Amino acid sequence: MSSITASDEQASAKATPAKIIQPAWVRALHWTNAFAMVLMIMSGWQIYNASPLFGFTFSSSITLGGWLGGALLWHFAAMWLLMVNGLIYLAMGIATGRFRKKLLPITPEGVISDARAALTGKLSHDDLSIYNYVQKLLYAGIIVVGVLIVLSGLAIWKPVQLQYLTALFGGYDVARYVHFICMAAICAFLVVHVVLALLVPKSLRAMIIGR
Ligand code: HEM
Repeated sequence: MSSITASDEQASAKATPAKIIQPAWVRALHWTNAFAMVLMIMSGWQIYNASPLFGFTFSSSITLGGWLGGALLWHFAAMWLLMVNGLIYLAMGIATGRFRKKLLPITPEGVISDARAALTGKLSHDDLSIYNYVQKLLYAGIIVVGVLIVLSGLAIWKPVQLQYLTALFGGYDVARYVHFICMAAICAFLVVHVVLALLVPKSLRAMIIGR
């Protein structure tokens, strides 16, 4: 069964016409995360270029740092912003009950039904404060990927001091692949996330001004 029906949403939109969709702390942490992520991705691509894992490199027009040393400095500087911001987000998400309320439960039937509704243009977008099951799955999934990219990053940053963590990933080389694949997943998520935010103009407005 779909998580939201059009009539539920219309009723809820009428009852609360100027509902705050994202609280201020979510918006502040979201945009700080977006900024830090862009720095991490662009500097990461420059680091990758120094010793590519695959048969391609990234154009210097989309990398940050100019060379390996410069990129590592950017990566390790933005890392603190990303980690502190991410830890506050996780702590607030758990403490305020937001994760439980917004992202759970996620059921396979709900995901299949909402994916089908989305593909046939039947998914309602009237109440943006309620996530459909596909959104819930993607948002919960990207949080897990965010945790994994930080852990694999720590594993390749300090493979001696954090050798147990590095070993958990199956060693330095595997951790490096995990780190790269998480980056690719974040980039794919970002493309879909931005395209959908632009296609549903109200959701972009909600993220920016909270209404
Ligand atoms: C606490 C967080 C992070 C730490 C400690 C960290 C650490 C590192 C280190 C040490 C490297 C160099 C690996 C090598 O020498 O081969 C690296 C590479 C890289 N990082 Fe991160 N990173 C973090 C988060 C991120 C994030 C959030 C992204 C992007 C979303 C990212 C993207 C990349 C990419 C694309 C590379 C190049 C992959 C490679 O060729 O190995 N990193 N990171």
